[in-house]
Order: sequence, then structure tokens, then C-alpha cells
Amino acid sequence: MRRVAAVATSALAVLALSAPLAQAAPPEETLRSEAPRDLKIGSAVWGQNELLDYDRKNPTEFQRILAAEFNSVTPENDMKWAEIHPEPGVYDFSGADAVVAFAEANNMEVRGHTLLWHSQNPQWVVDASATWTCEEARAVLEEHITTVVSRYAGQIYEWDVANEIFQDDWDTGGVRLRTEANPFLKACAEDPVALIGDAFRWADAADPEALLFLNDYNAEGINNKTDAYYALVQELLADGVPIDGFGAQGHLSLMYGFDESIQENFERFAALGLKVAITEADVRMPLGEDGEPTAEQIALQAERYDAMLVACLNVPACTSFTVWGFDDGHSWVPGVFPEGYATIMTEEFEKKPAYYALLESLTDATPGKSPRTAPGLNR
Ligand code: XIL
Repeated sequence: MRRVAAVATSALAVLALSAPLAQAAPPEETLRSEAPRDLKIGSAVWGQNELLDYDRKNPTEFQRILAAEFNSVTPENDMKWAEIHPEPGVYDFSGADAVVAFAEANNMEVRGHTLLWHSQNPQWVVDASATWTCEEARAVLEEHITTVVSRYAGQIYEWDVANEIFQDDWDTGGVRLRTEANPFLKACAEDPVALIGDAFRWADAADPEALLFLNDYNAEGINNKTDAYYALVQELLADGVPIDGFGAQGHLSLMYGFDESIQENFERFAALGLKVAITEADVRMPLGEDGEPTAEQIALQAERYDAMLVACLNVPACTSFTVWGFDDGHSWVPGVFPEGYATIMTEEFEKKPAYYALLESLTDATPGKSPRTAPGLNR
């Protein structure tokens, strides 16, 4: 009797255990689950706005999707000077800490952004820089880089050390280092390359593990600006500067053509021994009066996103592909450009064809099909 009862009980136990498993839907494929192991797939997020009240047992829908789809995050604003260093000697790490904590809780990595830039500097920097000597500017920059980078040492896999340091073709003076707009480069205009090199050295001393990047827009293909970067990187490397990577932001617009030389551009930086990355991808477009894109625009957007990802997948030195916000409700584009529909999901988190194009290319790049990782290593 006892024996039979025991068998019956364990049979029931097996049933009870297996029934929910049999009914459970297979895990949903996400960008993150499909990405090759050696490529991080990221999104920008504004920690101050979206992550301060994060409760891992009760995430918002935005937070749930962010953690499900991505294994890398970039603080969209939280680590910029104006946010993190609002007054001399005063640091506010709240937003940046929230990003790093969210990443850790969800097994994601963090791209740091950014330490030397001409934009989003606090008023005190703008004011003080009017009279800075190069020595004074160097001291302020060194203190900032050392403080911020050492706070997150070991928690950041890539840092955009220098952002947008070259002007564009269409700026007065053409492509050259921003020794007017960037207050630090301006103070050290006699030898801006020395300051840039030291910015990398200070970051490296504070976190020797992080990969240290240059980063810029209009830097996808081979053009005057990326030629200037290519020359600068060689100069820095010859000087022994610890520079590890070149990031193309990837802010595209359907108003312009697409430069097909992105893979070739990545390959030439990789040949110098650098990592490369797409750091801020979005594809905006002018919208009709109804605020809606056309079917052609939607299809072309998917193509452009995918072309950036495929260039990255085809170059093993490409370490990360990051979108600058994943839904139109969190895109910087409206307000800045007379365009929209720039991200891979609508405001309601509905996935666009661009999302599915990325998912498909990531899936195709998994073991057996990908030159990036040896078969069998990926999962
Ligand atoms: C943008 C942010 O998305 C906005 O929220 C902010 O108001 C301005 O900056 N290149 C960069 C990013 O390197 O830091 C910029 O981010 C977009 C362009």
C-alpha cells in the first residue's frame, strides 16, 4: 500500500512539475539573446529620468524591455559634465549610479559617455574657460576625469573619452580640431593633441581595464573627418597614448544618402589595432503633415539600421552596437531636428521593421554562420 501510494505521489509530483514547463511558451528571442557573444548590443538611457526608482521586482515596461533586449547601456546624459559635475568641486552621481546599478542588476555592461566634449558643459566651465591658461584647463580636466573614471573603475567596459573633437567640412575652417568651441582644446590650442593624449592617459590610469574611445558623428564612412581621425590615431599611438577604439555615432537621416564605405572605414581603424563601434545609432526622417512616415521610409530605415549593424558584424574588431534610445518616446530627435520616427520601436514599444532587420542579422551571425566566434562558443 505504502509503496503504491509513494509511486502515485511521485507520479503526481512529476506531473505537477512538468505541466507548467510543457505549457510555458519558448523564451522570446530578443536582440540580446541573438547577439554574438563578442558583440554588445546597447541602448542609451537617461538614468535620471528612467532608472532612479528602479525596483527589480516591479520594473516599468520601459525598464523590462531595456533589460530584455540589450546587454549594454550608455548613459544618454548622466555622465556628461553638466549633469555629473554641475559646480566646481560638486559632483552629482545620482543618475550615473542609477545606470550602473541597473546594468549590474540585469547583467548588462556600461559604455561611459563622455569626458571631453564641447557641448553640455556646465556654466561654470564656460565662464572659467574665458580666462583659462592651458595649465589651468589641464588641471580641471585631469581632476574631473580621475574622479569620474575611478568612481566606476571596473564597471565600464568602454569610455568615450573624447567626443566630437573635430569640426565638420561645413564649419568655418573646415575639418580641424575644435580649438574654438571646446573650452579645453581652446585653452590648449597651441598643442591640442597633447591634451587629448593626456585625457586618455588620465582615464587609463583611473581605470586600466576600460577600452578608451574617440567618438564622433558623420564618422561612419571614409570622408575628410574620418581621414583626420585616422591621422590623429596614428599620431597618438606613435606617442604611446593608450587609445583603444574609434566610435561612429551613427546618427543618420533619410534626408541624406548613406555612405557605403562604413565597413572599409572600420577595417582601416581595426588595422591600426583599434576596436570600433557604432555608438549612437538612429535613423530619422522628415514626416508628413500627419506625422507619419511612408511605407518606403519605414523600409529604408530598416535597411540603414541593418547596414550599420552588418558592417559591425563583418568586422570582428567591432565590439558594440548601440542605439540612441530604443523607442520614439525616448528619442532626442524631435525638437532638435524637424524629423522623427528615428528609433526601432514606436512610443508604444511596437517593434518596427528596423527592429526585425537587426534581429534577423544578429540571428544570422550566430554560430555556424558567423566569422566572429568559433562555432559552439556563442551559447
Ligand atoms: C544628446 C541627448 O540625446 C539629448 O538628450 C541631449 O539633450 C543632447 O545630447 N551626440 C552625442 C550625444 O554624443 O551625447 C548627444 O546626446 C547626441 C549627439
